[in-house]
Amino acid sequence: MRKAHTFGPAMASLLLIACASTPMTGAATTRTAIAAPISDRTEVPVSPAEPEWARANPEMDAFVSDLMAKMTLQEKIGQLTLLTSNWESTGPTMRDSYKEDIRSGRVGGIFNAYTAAYTAELQRLAVDETRLKIPLLFGYDVIHGHRTIFPISLGEAASWDLAAIERAARLSAVEASAEGIHWTFSPMVDIARDPRWGRISEGAGEDVHLGSKIAAARVRGYQGDDLAATDTVVATAKHFAAYGAAQAGRDYHTVDISERTLRDVYLPPFKAAVDAGVGSFMTSFNEVDGIPASGNRYLLTDVLRDKWGFDGFVVTDYTSINEMVPHGYAKDLKQAGEQALNAGVDMDMQGAVYMDHLAASLDEGKVEPAAVDRAVRRILEMKYRLGLFEDPYRYSDVERQEAAVYRPDILEAARDVARRSMVLLKNEGGTLPLASSAQSIAVIGPLADSKEDMIGSWAAAGDRRTRPVSILQGIRERAGDGVNVGYAKGASYAYGDAGKDSGFAEALALARKSDVIIAAMGERWDMTGEAASRTSLDLPGNQQALLEQLVATGKPVVLVVLSGRPNSIGWADENVPAILHAWYPGTMGGHAVADVLFGDYNPSGKLPVTFPRNVGQVPIHYDMKNTGRPIELGEANAKYVSRYLNTPNTPLYRFGHGLSYTSFRYSPVTLSAASMAARGSLTASATITNTGKVAGEEVVQLYVRDLVGSVTRPVQELKGFEKISLAPGESRTVSFTLRPADLAFTRADMSFGWEPGEFQLWIAPVSGASASVPAGFAIAE
Ligand code: BGC
Repeated sequence: MRKAHTFGPAMASLLLIACASTPMTGAATTRTAIAAPISDRTEVPVSPAEPEWARANPEMDAFVSDLMAKMTLQEKIGQLTLLTSNWESTGPTMRDSYKEDIRSGRVGGIFNAYTAAYTAELQRLAVDETRLKIPLLFGYDVIHGHRTIFPISLGEAASWDLAAIERAARLSAVEASAEGIHWTFSPMVDIARDPRWGRISEGAGEDVHLGSKIAAARVRGYQGDDLAATDTVVATAKHFAAYGAAQAGRDYHTVDISERTLRDVYLPPFKAAVDAGVGSFMTSFNEVDGIPASGNRYLLTDVLRDKWGFDGFVVTDYTSINEMVPHGYAKDLKQAGEQALNAGVDMDMQGAVYMDHLAASLDEGKVEPAAVDRAVRRILEMKYRLGLFEDPYRYSDVERQEAAVYRPDILEAARDVARRSMVLLKNEGGTLPLASSAQSIAVIGPLADSKEDMIGSWAAAGDRRTRPVSILQGIRERAGDGVNVGYAKGASYAYGDAGKDSGFAEALALARKSDVIIAAMGERWDMTGEAASRTSLDLPGNQQALLEQLVATGKPVVLVVLSGRPNSIGWADENVPAILHAWYPGTMGGHAVADVLFGDYNPSGKLPVTFPRNVGQVPIHYDMKNTGRPIELGEANAKYVSRYLNTPNTPLYRFGHGLSYTSFRYSPVTLSAASMAARGSLTASATITNTGKVAGEEVVQLYVRDLVGSVTRPVQELKGFEKISLAPGESRTVSFTLRPADLAFTRADMSFGWEPGEFQLWIAPVSGASASVPAGFAIAE
């Protein structure tokens, strides 16, 4: 058993000890915490990042020093300023005079500008018309594809296919860099556990382990092996930090979480991005424990630089320095700029705060010249590493652009990633794949023939009107001439159409004369993403009412959900025989949906986020705590246990859930040993057999529970996964090796390490204590 960390009832026996870890807030560098002492030998050291691009480069250092010696203060501040072109933006365009700003050296980077020709035109202003000819850095939101749009990020995460996710990022970089883009504002690695928050669609879901793996895969994909190659782009880990914990799921809202939760849940994907060599970080809009992220020294310096050794540059989110004034953290923009720079922000996105106020702050001694120089150096270094001083136009290549954009293999990859992302939530009686005997198919719903919805909300340069393949088109092309594919929109997702039924009659008439109904329902593309929070997770508009009437026809119904968040589709789960979650599947989405519906691709996606039964269960995630009164302690409907009166505690669909057209059997888990020593390891294995009639892929998941800790531990934590492919009848043994360090967490004294004690371990197709029989093991003292 674990060494006694027995806390007396009066807490009187607790020791006050000084913690070596840096505190989250306040000026002190040590803090006192109430905790029992924990052995040093179990502490897991944090290794600093050492990406290839950050290796010492004396030539670069000399070049940058030489250049900086020639720069005026205004020119230096210019390098810290990022402005949008007037193409598009997600907030106020503070300066429409950006071309004038480029000419006068008052801006060092531009975002929302792309195409080889346009970036070259702007670059020419910097290179030909400024005194020092410092090239511009072009940034852009290449989030899940550039021109060719891949499934939304949450959808890609549902593939649990790291190679596919990396490939999507790689190909996005190929397209984007050919249009002059040097730097993408991706990946978004915010853990999100609240589906009310529209930006849940932009990340990898609720889980720390999965989110960290995906963060690293995306960084590798964007940056490739060589940051200086013209077909790679600098990645940005955003939004630092804890943006996903916005209170009540309302965007930009306050974040108030414990330091332990911050460290153990929200920070690890950022650390994974640093370890993968990410070149830049973006601060978040929110405050963390009362301090806005863009003025948060603990996050931007203590953690990011001092602890993690990050060597790239930090940009704010859009006007987030300015927003420290309404946050109530700065009395005016000048003070906000000082707080940002002193905290560790290098570049000001769109706020023009550094531009307008930093010189005065230096004059007044509120900011040290060395702090400005440090930020300038970081940005010039990145420009140097990208080869921009050698050739400022090396990314803006019209020929390469022609060849790269919508390249057939990129479109094909988008289709492949899209079908890998889809999650078969339910499939009763083998409703799917569609039987070849289905001679007439009714395709119904507001998302059935909608190109614009296919690519989701963050498809910045994506063509929304002409390119996307709709579900109807995909089904028609696949079904061929012999099958009658009818279409009726039937319902609407507009909030204002709730209660109306004007399209129902047409849809029902079509449904009645068809063999099977495909109902494509969900949310309009802009109901998720930034500034798209909802207080209801229901299907919006009058879709639910039509769905009920479609089911009442007695015809088999397949619900295809397009959405960027978990919706509460409990009625559908009870009444519709088959449900496929297709997220927003991207440019080739209609083909990918058809691939799955007709069985050309056997679905293999698993949910990266828990689906609640209703919004009242939120936040709900698989790795919650047990509480002192877990529901299992009581009889059915017991009072005084941790439960709701009107809804079960369990979600509608668990994290990790996803069906296949075949079935898999899991053998009991075997362990290489019943316990491991401090420096040891342990291997857990299970044999998975495809017991069905078709080949399929399965995401084999490893969960662990730490039974007793110096702080309470989650009921399960994902610690590994592997996606395997099995032919009918084939078996494969999947093994996971665990070391004590894999079980580390922020302990009672705020040190990061593991604790000896007893654990349970599951190898299972889905999260949940009952998904398979757990095996027990221990970490020895
Ligand atoms: C978003 C960021 C984005 C930036 C630039 C902001 O509104 O929060 O995610 O990268 O705009 O477009």
